[in-house]
Amino acid sequence: MSNLLKLQQRADAGEKLAFLTAYDASFAALMQTSGVDAVLVGDTLGMVIQGQRSTLPVTLADITYHTAAVARGAPDTFIIADLPFGSYQANPAQALQSAATLMAAGAHCIKLEGGAVMANTVAFLTARGIPVCGHLGLLPQSVHAIGGYKVQAKTAAAAQQLIDDAKLLARSGACMIVVEAIPSQVAKAVTSAITVPVIGIGAGADCNGQVLVIYDLLGISPGKTPRFARNFMAESSGIAAAISAYVAAVKNVSFPAAEHCYLADPS
Ligand code: KIV
Repeated sequence: MSNLLKLQQRADAGEKLAFLTAYDASFAALMQTSGVDAVLVGDTLGMVIQGQRSTLPVTLADITYHTAAVARGAPDTFIIADLPFGSYQANPAQALQSAATLMAAGAHCIKLEGGAVMANTVAFLTARGIPVCGHLGLLPQSVHAIGGYKVQAKTAAAAQQLIDDAKLLARSGACMIVVEAIPSQVAKAVTSAITVPVIGIGAGADCNGQVLVIYDLLGISPGKTPRFARNFMAESSGIAAAISAYVAAVKNVSFPAAEHCYLADPS
């Protein structure tokens, strides 16, 4: 059985945490028996399950449905569910309503995108007993504002902003923070700056743990494979073995390797 306390203890002890996205009961069950530390019912489901061009069309009902399926498949695994676009940005009360729906469906924690602008919402939810995972760096729900799926925090100023955002979210009560598509040096600085686990995706090996979209791990994601992904299926005898290989590679810090990482702009 994994829970927030155990995840924090493992991170404090220097163990790397291996998270994966899951959207259904069968994959979630495999992850539970393969040593995955936590599963994320990510709004990437819009792209990999529904075939959408972005995560923006994903609804609260979609995430609720998939969270319930994952919770049935992996009853002993810590489950994080994404608050989808438009379900939390209006105000903390809207976020509470949406988070409560996901917690009732079986989530143990919700994830939301954004830095300082979300600090009050993070404090509001955590004060009401809802664990919150922040998400900084590349924010897929802001894809149109940032002009595409691009590496973030490449300049010194943007890196400092991200570190400040991470500190603020942690002070506001976030129990962990996902950092996506940022230079490894910046992720390392964030990880040293806060005490809650920092979980990277395209953020280098110095984070407290990694998260990967399961379809990237299996090499079946539609479109161009992101630089930070590794096809574990290509080197394994089956899906369970590929998931175990991912967990082992995260734990022994052989994934992510240099070729999966991004560098900051030279200053
Ligand atoms: O929705 C998702 O799967 C995510 C991961 C990419 C971290 O947020």
